[in-house]
Amino acid sequence: MTHMMRSSFPAAAVVVAVLLWPLAAAQLSTGYYASICPNLEAIVQSSVKQSMAQSQIAGPAALRLFFHDCAVKGCDASIMIVNSNGDDEWRNPDNQSLKPPGFQTILDAKAAVDNDPQCRYNVSCADILALAAREAVSQSGGPYYQVELGRYDGRISTKSSVVLPHVDFNLDQLNSFFSGLGLSQTDMIALSGGHTLGAADCTFFQNRIGTDPSMDSGFAAQLRNTCAGQTFAFLDGATPGGFDNLYFKNLQGGKGLLGSDQVLYTDLRSRGTVDYYASNPGTFFYDFTNAMTKLGRVGVKTAANGEIRRDCRTPN
Ligand code: HEM
Repeated sequence: MTHMMRSSFPAAAVVVAVLLWPLAAAQLSTGYYASICPNLEAIVQSSVKQSMAQSQIAGPAALRLFFHDCAVKGCDASIMIVNSNGDDEWRNPDNQSLKPPGFQTILDAKAAVDNDPQCRYNVSCADILALAAREAVSQSGGPYYQVELGRYDGRISTKSSVVLPHVDFNLDQLNSFFSGLGLSQTDMIALSGGHTLGAADCTFFQNRIGTDPSMDSGFAAQLRNTCAGQTFAFLDGATPGGFDNLYFKNLQGGKGLLGSDQVLYTDLRSRGTVDYYASNPGTFFYDFTNAMTKLGRVGVKTAANGEIRRDCRTPN
């Protein structure tokens, strides 16, 4: 009997896995809206283009928004919810540095999509976030990649659910956070390359100036100067609006802005990947794309536990 159970269990497990497969993992596909909203990608592309023309913060902020959405309760646009009782993800201190133009980019893209009668109320905010992130990357000179679609929007957003990586994390802490999302160290390093775009408030790196031996001394002097005159510095000072692999070259020169950036070079376990991306931009682009796709699969909701939100700020 024991023997029979042992030998029949794997077969039963396979049957169960095959039966559950469509429910568990197969809801995302690149052609999800082909008949529902055939012009979706063109609509989002042109809307994000307009947002990026209006504000240089729009693209970087939209990319970061996608990360902060997926990392907390999955890619379900819960970061967009504004609860009247004041308890929602975006009001958590870790999300207070998300920039308004990022949110506006998503709301404008959603309005543009809903302006098409065929698409109206048929496209989730979570999918618009994923598409807008791709547009932010590709319209800044980064890779264009196919985005898997078919996410449903969540109904729940609370301050207390927000757990995000911090700038003082070491490699083990970064790896443990990202492995919780099903992402590898290589995925984490590639995604950190998103810091080729945008800026960080001086409060996030000021304590490293003059104290962190991994920071280049000329860079430290430059940052001291920058923060004396303004409140922020660009994450990749040479090309803050261009998606490229300079971020990794900066790390090689001790010019990573955040502690969590520079540690990727300081720690010998991740330095090899940084060196590789610094000299192989094509591989960085490829791995970034791959990692964004994996990030986009985190905690995806279905019709069973989600909805297509009409207004991205409020559950239906
Ligand atoms: C590895 C752990 C990470 C940490 C500790 C981290 C932390 C930060 C911090 C502190 C800022 C500055 C925010 C501000 O002052 O406005 C920032 C900005 C940014 N982050 Fe990250 N981040 C991480 C990973 C990521 C990932 C995975 C992405 C996306 C792929 C990303 C995309 C961005 C972008 C685009 C900005 C610029 C936003 C803007 O200019 O408004 N970050 N990040």
